[in-house]
Amino acid sequence: MCGIFGIALSSDAALGAILRRALERLEYRGYDSAGIAVVSSGSLVVRKDVGKVADVARRHGFDSVRGRTGVAHTRWATHGKPSQANAHPHTDCAGRIAVVHNGIIENYEELKAELAAKGHVFTSETDTEVFAHLMEEYEREGLSPWDAFRKAVSRIRGAYALAVVDLGEPDKVFFARNLSPLIVGVGDGYNVVASDIPTILDHTKNALPLRDGEYGYISPAGVYIERDGVAVSISGRVQQVPWSAEQALRGGYPHFMLKEIHEQPEALSSTIAGLEPRRLAEAAEMLLNARRIYVLGAGTSYYAGLVFQLGLTSYKLLAYPIIASEYATYEGVFDSDDVAIAVSQSGETIDTIKAARAVKERGAKVIAITNVVASTLARESDYVLYTRAGPEIGVAATKTFTTQVALLTALHIAVGRALGIDVSAEESSLKRLPDVVRRAIELNEGSAKALAEDVASSKNAYYLSRGLGMPVALEGALKLKEIAYIHAEAYPAGESKHGPIALVEEKFPVVFVFSDPSAKEKLLNNVAEMRARDALLIGVVPKGDDLTKKLKYVFEVPNMDPMTNAASFVVPLQLLAYYTAVRLGRDPDKPRNLAKTVTVE
Ligand code: F6R
Repeated sequence: MCGIFGIALSSDAALGAILRRALERLEYRGYDSAGIAVVSSGSLVVRKDVGKVADVARRHGFDSVRGRTGVAHTRWATHGKPSQANAHPHTDCAGRIAVVHNGIIENYEELKAELAAKGHVFTSETDTEVFAHLMEEYEREGLSPWDAFRKAVSRIRGAYALAVVDLGEPDKVFFARNLSPLIVGVGDGYNVVASDIPTILDHTKNALPLRDGEYGYISPAGVYIERDGVAVSISGRVQQVPWSAEQALRGGYPHFMLKEIHEQPEALSSTIAGLEPRRLAEAAEMLLNARRIYVLGAGTSYYAGLVFQLGLTSYKLLAYPIIASEYATYEGVFDSDDVAIAVSQSGETIDTIKAARAVKERGAKVIAITNVVASTLARESDYVLYTRAGPEIGVAATKTFTTQVALLTALHIAVGRALGIDVSAEESSLKRLPDVVRRAIELNEGSAKALAEDVASSKNAYYLSRGLGMPVALEGALKLKEIAYIHAEAYPAGESKHGPIALVEEKFPVVFVFSDPSAKEKLLNNVAEMRARDALLIGVVPKGDDLTKKLKYVFEVPNMDPMTNAASFVVPLQLLAYYTAVRLGRDPDKPRNLAKTVTVE
């Protein structure tokens, strides 16, 4: 859960500033400390510290460092608390090798003991530092830096994306990947490696996503990749990334999250325009031929998966939703006739990847729903359907959720069509979705800002719904919890009476989601129960509905069918969470303790 970057240029440049910019892009992946290492006039300059990138860069004068080859890192602590010593890059005893790493080297304790016995002195509590000393040890034994790097890679186990500079081969950045994302950017007279595509885009549109088990180096002249000691051809693997660098910038908004909320109409239009009826029909066929269907995902992606799972019930089809990190419980159940839909915007969430692998190991098929072309999940799945949300930088998922719901609705339509069911109403809803979401923003941004004042002074909130409104309630509560740090829970409204209602007292915010019309009547009873307890009644309701009179605050959204409504009714709740976080002085783009992509179990 860290961001790494490496670059090899053909002549000296203000490399410190280039590395700082890369770290600013990568900061969403972790932001407790940052650092750079640059090969500069025959010596290795390492600068690192605790804090956000901009502060560390300013305090340590990153911009004044010149050089041709360098690596950089922004950290989300796994082993060792955030401290200057634990910040990356990590170096060997002689200070000639610098390593940045995202992941966990599982056998680091045993390697550390072995190296310490040989006299290596460790200065951090991290797992990463062993790699610098391992290379140093092999160089002491007479290996070249490249051979030492290869041998060191062969000794480590676990998840890693590594980038390494070594004064012994000053023009190269060595890299290796296993389970953690790493992409090579192929330039003209220079090359880069980075944890994600937006960071590559500052330099080139030509991306080469690495595969597990691959390692190699970049130099200004080229890219070399090996696997198990054998050179790997890169021909045909370099892809043109369709995103512009501007797409990855904030575009005038105070936060990425707000920009991404406003980008939803466009992200939805692109996703809908990119739908391929033939591929959807093939995926639908796979589902209909399956003995059992599972829906896998984590966090927001899991909730998008729930929309699909609940949507299938309208065809009398039962799918099993599984929170990806809980897959092990179900492992024995997976069978070769089954199909799993794995939902992950990044395609790099380790829990979802592991769950998908477990499904595949039992011979079942996996259909990936992801936003990132050639991500690990996309590559390892039997079938991939892509959302086209563009890069999402804010840690809280927004446009990736709504585009996932749109894509899953399209798949739902394809299943319906294969069953001979009339899907025309749902189809026209899906077409209208980008405009409806635009309208949902226009109609509700002002009221979200106003209501944020009240919500900000609360310590708790409930989000209640029924049926296809439940994933919206779950997602709304998750947004408020993760960026505003207000304790928010979603419950099926009926279930609220089996315990949760005990907490409700005067002004306790209760948000009702009325996106599923079949639930309206019963949900109104639950509104009455909460009114009787003087709760602060908030609702997301179909525009023009008489419900507006029954609640203190309402967000109105044009009504469509309940599946598509899941993508539009969530919008006011995204805005409410955003403005509440801002009101409380939280940084919505970098919520504490969270990272954009969870790459450790
Ligand atoms: C919440 C959020 C997370 C992610 C989850 C899965 O706002 O972003 O809950 O949805 O970590 O991530 P992906 O979709 O990349 O697998």
